[in-house]
Amino acid sequence: MTTNYKHWRYTTDKDNLVWLTFDKAGESANTFSADAIAELVAILQEIRAANPRALIFRSGKDSGFIAGADINDFARAKSVEDGMAIIRRGWDMFHVIAALPFPTLAMVNGFCMGGGVEFALACRYRVALDDPKTRFAFPEVMLGILPAWGGIKYLPKLVGPTAALDMLLSGKSVDARKAKRIGLVDACVPARVLENAARMIALEAPPPHRPPLLQRLMNAAPLKSIVAAMARKQVAKRAPREHYPAPYVILDLWARYDGDPFAPPLTDPASPAALMQGETVKNLIRIFFLQERMKALGKESDFAAKHVHVIGAGVMGGDIAALCAMRGLSVTLQDQNAERLVPAMQRAAKLFQRRLRDKARIRDAMDRLVPDTAGDGVNKADVIIEAIFENLEAKRELFAALEKNARPDAILATNTSSLKLADIGAKLAHPGRLVGIHFFNPVAQMMLVEVVSGANTDAAIANQAAAFVRQIDKLPLQVKDSPGFLVNRVLGPYLNQAMQMVEQGLSAETVDAAATRFGMPMGPIELADTVGLDICIAAGKSLAAASAAAGQPATVPKKLEQLVAAGNLGKKSGRGYYTWREGKPVKGAPGAVSEELIERLLAPYLKEAQAVVAEGIVADADLADAGLIFGTGFAPFRGGPLNYLRSKNG
Ligand code: NAI
Repeated sequence: MTTNYKHWRYTTDKDNLVWLTFDKAGESANTFSADAIAELVAILQEIRAANPRALIFRSGKDSGFIAGADINDFARAKSVEDGMAIIRRGWDMFHVIAALPFPTLAMVNGFCMGGGVEFALACRYRVALDDPKTRFAFPEVMLGILPAWGGIKYLPKLVGPTAALDMLLSGKSVDARKAKRIGLVDACVPARVLENAARMIALEAPPPHRPPLLQRLMNAAPLKSIVAAMARKQVAKRAPREHYPAPYVILDLWARYDGDPFAPPLTDPASPAALMQGETVKNLIRIFFLQERMKALGKESDFAAKHVHVIGAGVMGGDIAALCAMRGLSVTLQDQNAERLVPAMQRAAKLFQRRLRDKARIRDAMDRLVPDTAGDGVNKADVIIEAIFENLEAKRELFAALEKNARPDAILATNTSSLKLADIGAKLAHPGRLVGIHFFNPVAQMMLVEVVSGANTDAAIANQAAAFVRQIDKLPLQVKDSPGFLVNRVLGPYLNQAMQMVEQGLSAETVDAAATRFGMPMGPIELADTVGLDICIAAGKSLAAASAAAGQPATVPKKLEQLVAAGNLGKKSGRGYYTWREGKPVKGAPGAVSEELIERLLAPYLKEAQAVVAEGIVADADLADAGLIFGTGFAPFRGGPLNYLRSKNG
């Protein structure tokens, strides 16, 4: 017999084993909202009274186990009291589970995030589905909050502080196999035996997992404070406490209060309350919702590609093709001759090894990526992406030829950075089919992809392109065809300003330090060296032409011209503004950085960010913020440039 609640249902089987299913009403993923928690607490009372042999928690969603707490609840919290009440709710519930007198087990069939992991930790056992979609993570730290429902307390006890702090402080996920290796789950099994494995463990009730002795010692005095001090040093290398306090609070709470969020007084810097008053948490949650909004931009069309054909196997095309193959699509990659394809295939193999790890999955991805000098893939593809040299005539001819061979419903896309879509599509019979799908370098890392609509692009095609971008797990942002689109338009004048400051006698180190002091992940001079100074000069010239057309003269910095003329292109040639060793710039000490310097460096960035909104290049200020955070790394804790300007100007 099944007992049904709004979000939960349970049955008791012949072995007196209770199977309790979480199936959040009206939602595609399970989240712990206040009502789902309240219902569970009531159900647990009933089950406890029935005293079954064991209790197994499972998900009613194919997509995964539990996505965590409902972020909307946090977003609605108006005061420290509200925030602490949310923590109390989950903390108490998990203690009810942990105190049940019979074996409890979480059967994890996919993603398991934040509160989902804490839920699993509250159980005596955990069994995970051996599948790439099964991932465990504490993403709280990325939202500027902390896993205060028991994660900080119980994860280090279960897997030891080394693996636990790695997860808690970075937000990084572990897959089912790694979860087994570190002891987070008791078994990692394929789908066909998942239920059976869960049943066996729950019925046999072996002794619960414990980490190795050294890890247990690291969880107690005197080693614990040494471990915490070392971890604090690592955290400080990544970001200062005043910008990102959450990892510091997580460490303090673990080291000094054994992860109990209610142990420190509210005024103690180790209390979760320390995070609730700051702007960082508000801004990081804002970014989470902006990201959700960008994901939704990919849902306007139900387009789904099976086969992608990429033309041009250079820096961009090669990596775009590899990414698509990694995401499960069949890909043909075309270039002028076989030699040109070799480096792209080698880079693809490296990417698959790094990201997929598993031998069979690497082989499958390699099999999906087919070199195609003859262009045989053109007439089969659902999406054709052009990434050849930035040459208008060549692109125009190419598209005219493609249109004749491509399927009539295929998306025709260009990765151009600086040419006008209307010009590229000038010889097309149906210019509405041409859309820009503008990736950023390095393709595998950069989350943002600009979906560019030219004067003729059909809105439906742009929506299909956005759906395709989601399919390969990137964030699409619709932009209008205008020089530099969103990201390069804003970056160009900012990099130019940085280089002009170097022209005026400041060291590259000082200029970069001004940017990182503000919260940028990388200084503009280092960024220019990383992107490639030849690319910067080309982008700079096309933006300069656009500003000249608008009556604002822009000069190319002399040093930039000299460096490029001498073949010093930055990171890729080992020398640019910096000398590069082993992929890192060799830097001297920066000079003094004043507030005035930071303001002067950022002024052009902020001005362009306002201009792109005023000119309607993106739909609104929020999307401009989102694009600039994911496309340029604008200091996330400030919530985007326009949000920053709003908060600065009160
Ligand atoms: P690249 O010079 O590395 O590669 C271009 C490739 O296209 C070469 O392998 C070449 O043999 C091939 N090619 C040229 N004409 C061809 C044709 N007719 N048929 C087949 N293959 C042909 O160029 P990169 O840097 O990858 O740029 C490609 C496009 O992506 C350009 O439009 C560029 O503006 C754009 N882009 C470049 C970025 C970058 O950081 N490099 C960033 C974003 C966009």
